[in-house]
Amino acid sequence: MSNSLTIALSKGRILDDTLPLLAESGIEPAEPPGSSRKLVLDTTQAGVKIVILRATDVPTYVQYGAADVGVAGKDVLMEHGGRDLYEPLDLRVARCRMMVAGRPGANEGHGNLRVATKFVNIARRYFAEQGRQVETVKLYGSMELAPLAGLADLIVDLVDTGNTLKANGLEPLEHIADISSRLIVNRAAMKMKHRQIKGLIDRLAAAVDARST
Ligand code: ATP
Ligand code: PRP
Repeated sequence: MSNSLTIALSKGRILDDTLPLLAESGIEPAEPPGSSRKLVLDTTQAGVKIVILRATDVPTYVQYGAADVGVAGKDVLMEHGGRDLYEPLDLRVARCRMMVAGRPGANEGHGNLRVATKFVNIARRYFAEQGRQVETVKLYGSMELAPLAGLADLIVDLVDTGNTLKANGLEPLEHIADISSRLIVNRAAMKMKHRQIKGLIDRLAAAVDARST
């Protein structure tokens, strides 16, 4: 049986927060990520590779088996739908909240509100579950600008310290979900590479637990 394993990570927070957990699990990149333009990194474990993707592409790579496992924010998984993926472990890093935000009181209007967001599926589901009619507008970043520019009444976005909202005269108004990064696993890989993946899950779980005790 092959000992190969491909791990999908995204640049930025997820890479920064996951590499220490992987290192504690015995997997380290053979060269520092960012030291070159390489998107496939060998690691200190033979056959184990790390591929570096856009955050929103991680579930897709794992779903199709192009990566065996990956790390993705719960926000990205909720938006993607999580089809054909196992989500066996909360890594408890990159923690924040998915919120409805806007100018104070902007969520109290009775008219048809317009909501700008990168997370249109999450926003539609949230407002539909509450029986509230909204129009969603898809954006790819800088959501906080939308209410200021008159593009939307509300935004659905991630909030951590609240500084970005505050700096733009906005407030968190409604809590949708707590967010953290999750380990995701391809269903077929979970069967075919069970021993290897189970070992990785157990070592990562121990590293996560060691931090919170
Ligand atoms: P892309 O490259 O596709 O634009 P991104 O800019 O969303 O991705 P990051 O900002 O690195 O990538 O965010 C990766 C993940 O980190 C998000 O999916 C989310 O789960 C989490 N995250 C985002 N913003 C924060 C924050 N302010 N504090 C803590 N975690 C966050
Ligand atoms: C995220 C998110 C918010 C901000 C919230 O952006 O989209 O804008 O963090 O964090 P705060 O509540 O601590 O201010 P990020 O820093 O990832 O910037 P980007 O979306 O431009 O990558």
